[in-house]
Amino acid sequence: MTEKRIAIALDVTDINEAEKILNEISGYNLVIKVGYALFIKYGKEIVDLVKSMNFEIFLDLKLHDIPNTVYNGVLSAVDLDVNYLTVHALGGRQMLEKAVEARGRSGLKLLAVTILTAHSREYTDYIGSRYTIDQLALKLANEAVDVGIDGIVSSAKEVEKLKKEIHKDFISVVPGIRFPENKADDQKRIATPEEALRSGADMLVIGRPVIKAQNKKEVLNKFFDVLSRC
Ligand code: C5P
Repeated sequence: MTEKRIAIALDVTDINEAEKILNEISGYNLVIKVGYALFIKYGKEIVDLVKSMNFEIFLDLKLHDIPNTVYNGVLSAVDLDVNYLTVHALGGRQMLEKAVEARGRSGLKLLAVTILTAHSREYTDYIGSRYTIDQLALKLANEAVDVGIDGIVSSAKEVEKLKKEIHKDFISVVPGIRFPENKADDQKRIATPEEALRSGADMLVIGRPVIKAQNKKEVLNKFFDVLSRC
């Protein structure tokens, strides 16, 4: 069974602010998700900072390009020695195969996003798909896991279905996690940590409930408490 993890979305734009947050949560067994706001500006510096504090690092760059370009991007992530990297399943089977080939025997885990939660029926019409959003997300997730992608990012509501319909082990990564007393912010499909874990989530991605909290440790302790119970 996959070890259940908590990933903190380090969604800030300044490295000093990032460092301050990392210091406040140091000592916890966490994955730190770095998106392109920090990565484009600071590159290896932010990766080294996260690693120097003994956190695992999740680069959320959602690669989507021709297979050879993604192959080279994944090789660079392997060189940087990051633990997780996201790619777009919409990039196609060949692109995903090249990503898996570049990952090779390294410890890098590749995670695929399917249909972004910001998209709706309008989007499937836009790309001319005959599938509904849910059908397309399932099809893309299935293809990705089939070619050797390690995990799928989805909302908590989709996890149960994905775990049931995909007949191969994969890491289920779930953002949009809130305790009942938290604000939803701009998230439309939220779930409590209990709900997400009980549905089969392996990694909870949590941003604002932790990084905006006055007492980050107190909030993290609550999340870890749930993790130990579910
Ligand atoms: O602050 P919050 O907990 O909403 O942050 C969630 C994180 O997960 C953000 O970094 C966001 O970009 C990411 N994410 C998401 N929904 C998706 C995919 C990724 O919220 N479908």
